[in-house]
Amino acid sequence: MTSTEETLSNLLKEDRRFEPPKELAAEANLKEEAYARADSDREAFWAEQAERLHWDTKWDQVLDWSNPPFAKWFVGGTLNAAYNCLDRHVEAGLGDRVALHWVGEPEGDSRSVTYAELKDEVCRAANALTALGVEKGDRVAIYMPMILETVVAMLACARIGAPHTVVFGGFSSDALATRVVDCGVKVIITADGGYRRGSASALKPAVDEARAKCQDRDGHIVEKVLVVRRTGQDVDWDGPETGGPDVWWHDVVEQASTEHECEFFDSEHPLYVMYTSGSTGKPKGILHTTGGYLTGAAYTHWAVFDLKPETDVYWCTADVGWVTGHSYLVYGPLANATTGVIYEGTPDTPEKGRWWKIVQDHKVSIFYTAPTAIRSFMKQGHEIPDRYDMSSLRVLGSVGEPINPEAYVWYRHVIGGDRTPVVDTWWQTETGAIMISPLPGVTHGKPGSAMIPIPGVSADVVTEEGESVPNGSGGYLVLTEPWPSMLRTIWGDDDRFRDTYWSKYRKEGWYFAGDGAKKDEDGDLWVLGRVDDVMNVSGHRLSTTEIESALVSHPKVAEAAVVGAKDEDTGQAVVAFVILRDEAGDGGEDIVADLRQHVRKEIGPIATPRQIMIVPELPKTRSGKIMRRLLKDVAENREVGDVTTLADSSVMDLISDGINAGKAED
Ligand code: WT7
Repeated sequence: MTSTEETLSNLLKEDRRFEPPKELAAEANLKEEAYARADSDREAFWAEQAERLHWDTKWDQVLDWSNPPFAKWFVGGTLNAAYNCLDRHVEAGLGDRVALHWVGEPEGDSRSVTYAELKDEVCRAANALTALGVEKGDRVAIYMPMILETVVAMLACARIGAPHTVVFGGFSSDALATRVVDCGVKVIITADGGYRRGSASALKPAVDEARAKCQDRDGHIVEKVLVVRRTGQDVDWDGPETGGPDVWWHDVVEQASTEHECEFFDSEHPLYVMYTSGSTGKPKGILHTTGGYLTGAAYTHWAVFDLKPETDVYWCTADVGWVTGHSYLVYGPLANATTGVIYEGTPDTPEKGRWWKIVQDHKVSIFYTAPTAIRSFMKQGHEIPDRYDMSSLRVLGSVGEPINPEAYVWYRHVIGGDRTPVVDTWWQTETGAIMISPLPGVTHGKPGSAMIPIPGVSADVVTEEGESVPNGSGGYLVLTEPWPSMLRTIWGDDDRFRDTYWSKYRKEGWYFAGDGAKKDEDGDLWVLGRVDDVMNVSGHRLSTTEIESALVSHPKVAEAAVVGAKDEDTGQAVVAFVILRDEAGDGGEDIVADLRQHVRKEIGPIATPRQIMIVPELPKTRSGKIMRRLLKDVAENREVGDVTTLADSSVMDLISDGINAGKAED
């Protein structure tokens, strides 16, 4: 065996299994037979899924893959995404169904909108945007808090064929400016601010700064800035009186007509651009188009969450500034006529049980969140969620990073009362929709495994040379067949699109996801994280995730991050950063030795960390991903690199201070 074939072959010692609940299985939207049906004729299967949507003109070809990697799906078809999310439900008599229960952060500040109301608001906003000069094909940036107007803005753009690019409200004016210029944005939609952590947090000043930067640095003019009044805080105003672009939402949208006849666009008409970070500093504008994307979002939302739109209440906690907020808060759920929840604020405002109170108040039945959130609740203990009645929950989802088995089991037990399947959903900004996940009524769950590709999707784990690895081994995760919601290109950069995703396995025509994965003895998939998070210690490949899970399974550990640091003896060595649970105090004087022994026991001597640093916080991006690059800098005694994408840039100081204090004592 070459070391490549041995890749990542340290399997987690995880043998817990959870079978689908019998009742759920009996009534499941998708049954076992779907896998074989999709395999036998993939295009026919996807055509069947596209029938979930309303097409004004039906397509005449399911897939045009004559010029790979540039795909066209449902060729010749025309549709409108907003019509599919709203009008057709109203026309079907569902106008009175609640589309979204919006919960503001200040308690009591909430509003529920029906499908009929949401349609009217979207029509108004569509008319207002047209009056502001936005035409089909123009790009609109959306930089907003989690309020209903944000969803209205996205759907209004979709309705008039103006691709939106939503920029997460936590991003800086610099990040906003870069995206506005790269995407050639004509109009920005924003708000004075939003509520976070108990107070009003401003957004408009960052837009003003970004607009100035676009103009000064790149000569790019933003023509209009449409501003929602949310917090009522003072804003600098540069309106038509002063020759500026600022316009109040309530001045132009509320007055506009609710009559809006929509145009039906080509299936490949751009729907949105979502920026995501790559291995270089320049973010990639991932382009999604209309027909295939909406098909993928609607189908997966229905299948993976076993959605019953008549009775379920569905809550995805992601911010609309991320792809999860696009596919599973807006497009998928609304295309499926779901009743959803959208929450403005932070999980612990005004108190730590806020999320569970929302679950209780709205009788949420399907809940979708990220492992980082689950781990932080785990750290606070079960007493807080135990105070709420969460018996309405029937399916739980996880997304964003590998979920540690301990967190999975805690989630299922404490939040789901051991009744609910947990679907660990693997996908990416680029894939547009869930690709690998259990089906809650069919597939049993293994804590930490995303299991198998959903019907219609084809994935494999392969060696550097492109050979499928046998069960029990690891390698690179690839998608071996095109899928409808796949990215179409990187905005303005076809070459980078080809190089990043399609050049590694060009001969085979596979999409390279950039993740490492392993197949266990049953052939189920364990996604191990980005391949750049993979270490090589003495010629053995080890996954950061695997060692992190081992550390988190220790009773005193709340969270852990592991990096591979250069080492003279072993090539790379394992360095771990660990946050202890509140009740563990300082862990006692043997804590580091205990933890090293624990990892040795859980995985094996090869995985024993060279160094373990007890830290108060970990550096995370605003989407909750640990920035291992920075920890690597610390581990390798380098000057810490660029911290501008950290949610809290003071974290690195805390870590360095802590480590230096430790050194001084030595
Ligand atoms: C990367 C994509 C998909 C929406 C949120 C993140 C990691 C995502 C899982 C999972 C293991 C996961 C991968 C992937 N990832 N879900 N269930 N198990 N890893 O979107 O920012 O585009 O990140 O997140 O590394 O490549 P994204």
